[in-house]
Amino acid sequence: MNLLITGGAGFIGSNFVRYILKKYPRYKVIILDKLTYAGNLDNLKQFLNPDNLYLNKDYLTKYPHHLVDELKVSFPSNDFLFIQGDICDAELVGRIFSRVDVVVNFAAETHVDRSIMEAGSFVTTDVYGTYVLLEAAKKYRIRRYIQISTDEVYGEAIDFPSREDAPLNPKSPYAASKAGGDRLAFSYWATYNLPIIVTRCVNNFGPYQFPEKLIPLFITNALKGKPLPVYGDGKNTREWIYAEDHCRALDIIMHSQDGVGEVFNIGSGIEKSILDITKIILKVLGKPDTLIQFVKDRAGHVRRHAVDTEKMRKKFNWSPQIDFEEGMERTVRWYVKNKSWWREIKEKSKDYQEYYQKQYILRERTKKQD
Ligand code: NAD
Ligand code: DAU
Repeated sequence: MNLLITGGAGFIGSNFVRYILKKYPRYKVIILDKLTYAGNLDNLKQFLNPDNLYLNKDYLTKYPHHLVDELKVSFPSNDFLFIQGDICDAELVGRIFSRVDVVVNFAAETHVDRSIMEAGSFVTTDVYGTYVLLEAAKKYRIRRYIQISTDEVYGEAIDFPSREDAPLNPKSPYAASKAGGDRLAFSYWATYNLPIIVTRCVNNFGPYQFPEKLIPLFITNALKGKPLPVYGDGKNTREWIYAEDHCRALDIIMHSQDGVGEVFNIGSGIEKSILDITKIILKVLGKPDTLIQFVKDRAGHVRRHAVDTEKMRKKFNWSPQIDFEEGMERTVRWYVKNKSWWREIKEKSKDYQEYYQKQYILRERTKKQD
C-alpha cells in the first residue's frame, strides 16, 4: 500500500505512523505536515534520516534537511518520506497524490482555545485544506480517503449518546471548521462517488500529545508543582479514548471494503469530568489537591460530549482494548520518562510561553477582577 498520512508529525498522526509501520512494515508511507507549533519531528525521530526528510528553510538550523524545492524536480522512491508542506498547497498535494492510493487526513488546527483567540487558520486548514485534498483525491482517483473529523461537531447535543445521524451544532470556530471539512468530504462521496469515509472520535490521550490539551498540560504542570487551571466549575464531561485504540479503529476502516460514504463515531464509553481527570492525575503523581485552580470558563464551553459507537462495533467488530486506568498509567509514565520532550516545548518555545501567558495568566487576572 502507498499511504499518505497528513498531519503525521502531530499527536494522533505520529501514533498512527508508529502503529502502521509496526504492523505493516512493507507499506510505503509519505507524511505531509506543515510543522506548525503542534507538529514535532521528535515525534517521528525513529523513522527519519537526512535522505527521507524534506524541510523548508526555517528548519535549516535545527535538523539535517533537503529543501522542499528539490521535490519539484522529482520525488525519490523511498519507502518512507517526510515532507514539510501545507495541505493548502494544491501543487505539492497534486504531486504527492499521484503517488499514493490511500489517504488519511489528520492535518488540522486542533485546539479549541486557540480557535477562540484566532479562527482564521482553522478555517484555512480545516476547511480549505480539506477541499484541496479532496480535489486531488478526485483528480488522482484515490482508492480510499479517510477524513478524521471529531465528536466536537455535535456541539451541545440534544440527545445522548450522539449517533452519527444527530444534528451538528458546533459551538467553537474549531468545531465549526471541522464540521465544514467533515461535510465537504461527505459531499465528495455524494457528488463524485469518491471512496470517502468520515470518522468522529472522542477525546484522545496518550504519549506525544502537545502540552496545551488538558491531560498533558495537567500532568506536566503537576510535575513542576504548578497550578492546574480548571475551567468553570470543572463539571463539564468528555469521553476519553487511548490514542492507540483510535489507531486500531482507523486501521480496520482503512482496510475494509465496507463503509464508503458513511460516518463512524469512535469512542470508549468512558466519560469523565475535568475534575475527575484532574484528581486522577494528582493521585497517580502523588501531588496535593491544592494545585487545583479554578479559572474563568472557556467561551461556549460544551457541557458534555458522548457518542454512540454501535455502528463501529457492529459493522467492524471493533472495540477499544485499553481501559482508562491502564491508558492513564501508560500516559503519565511516558511524560515522566520523556521530560526533555515536553520541556523543549514548555520551557524553550516562545510561541508556547506567549500562548500560556495569554490563555492562563491574563485569564487568571480577569477572574480576580470579576
Ligand atoms: P495535533 O495538533 O497534535 O496535530 C496536528 C498536525 O497537523 C500537526 O503535526 C501540524 O503540524 C499539522 N498541520 C496543521 N496544519 C497543517 C497544514 N495546513 N498542512 C499540513 N499539516 C498541518 O492534532 P491531533 O490531536 O493529533 O489531531 C489530529 C486530527 O484528529 C485532527 O484532525 C483533529 O481534529 C482530530 N481529532 C483529534 C482528537 C483529539 O482528542 N486530539 C479527537 C478527535 C479528532
Ligand atoms: O472531542 C474531541 C476533541 O477533543 C478534539 O476534536 C480536539 O482536537 C481536542 O483538542 C479535544 O478538544 P477539547 O476541547 O475537549 O480538549 P481540551 O484538552 O482542550 O479540553 C478538555 C476539557 O478540559 C474541556 O472541557 C476543557 C477543559 N480544560 C482544558 C484545558 C486545556 C480545562 O478545564 N483547563 C484547561 O487548561
